[in-house]
Amino acid sequence: MVDDKRNPLSEINTAYQTRAPRHVLAQDVVLTERTHRQISECIALLRFHRTIYDEWDFAAVDHQGSTAIVNFFGPPGTGKTLAAEALAGELEMSFLPLTIGDLESSLKGQMSKNLQKAFRRAREEQAVLFFDEADALLGRRISVSQGIDSDMNATRNTMMTELSAHEGLVIFATNYARDYDDAIKSRITHQVTFELPDEAARLRLWDRFIVEKIPLAVPRAELLAQAAAGSPGLSGRDILNCTRRALPRMLLDAERAEMPPRLDFSHIEAAIAQLRLGTGGSGQAAKPKAAAGEETTIAGHLLGLQ
Ligand SMILES: Nc1ncnc2c1ncn2[C@@H]1O[C@H](COP(=O)(O)OP(=O)(O)O)[C@@H](O)[C@H]1O
Ligand SMILES: [Mg+2]
Repeated sequence: MVDDKRNPLSEINTAYQTRAPRHVLAQDVVLTERTHRQISECIALLRFHRTIYDEWDFAAVDHQGSTAIVNFFGPPGTGKTLAAEALAGELEMSFLPLTIGDLESSLKGQMSKNLQKAFRRAREEQAVLFFDEADALLGRRISVSQGIDSDMNATRNTMMTELSAHEGLVIFATNYARDYDDAIKSRITHQVTFELPDEAARLRLWDRFIVEKIPLAVPRAELLAQAAAGSPGLSGRDILNCTRRALPRMLLDAERAEMPPRLDFSHIEAAIAQLRLGTGGSGQAAKPKAAAGEETTIAGHLLGLQ
């Protein structure tokens, strides 16, 4: 029906480019112990999956099982996108990331076709297909009489069809797993729950972002411990944003005081305070209450697992 090479899709073909993963799990992704355990197990199982379905061709008798569907669930900024790319790297596969925006089109019916194209590209290039903000795509199918976009429903149906026919690895990432359509939920083979970093993970995140060459006013271990203790409720992305913000501030202060620049906890603290006021970052850390709940996992609750 659609001529693959000469259709309106060519305008957005660049959105379906696979790439070699740029992040390494052990090195670049800081996870809580619990999430780390889950993702390691997931990777181990996916390796077996490849042996069983690809090398031994078990797919010939179990079509449905030849697609592994991983769901990354957790608050924004906790490293889901980062980890998905690193996971592709662990499996020595390329990576094809997509958001709903990459699939959307003003042309009626085009979204389904774009989705088909993405799946095809992933198969051709043996890429891990990653759907960011998947809840927008996988939410319950709603009757058109309720006024919901019929294109979206069609796209969801296409997603089910494509998942059934696919042979490969698909990762979904979402902050709102509960909203998934039941049909999709039942197809998820691996679940990894991301959570806000605990103090130990925050310490490693600060350590990662306060790169070595940044001049410090106090011993590194001391500064990192202060930063980790002073940032409950912040996500990895928030910590990156705070560091981004603290550095120019520190330089400016030093310039004004005509002193050499040295990072100390006050710069970090100011950046955290600013973030909590909602003037930067994901906004998620703006609510100090998140600190109290940092050890519990909202994720589990939302999934009905706890
Ligand atoms: N767990 C983490 N480990 C290392 N860096 C992180 C982590 N979480 C967030 N970051 C930083 O924040 C950025 C955005 O995180 P991202 O992976 O997009 O989060 P999510 O997909 O969960 O919203 C990352 O590119 C990285 O720089
Ligand atoms: Mg993301």
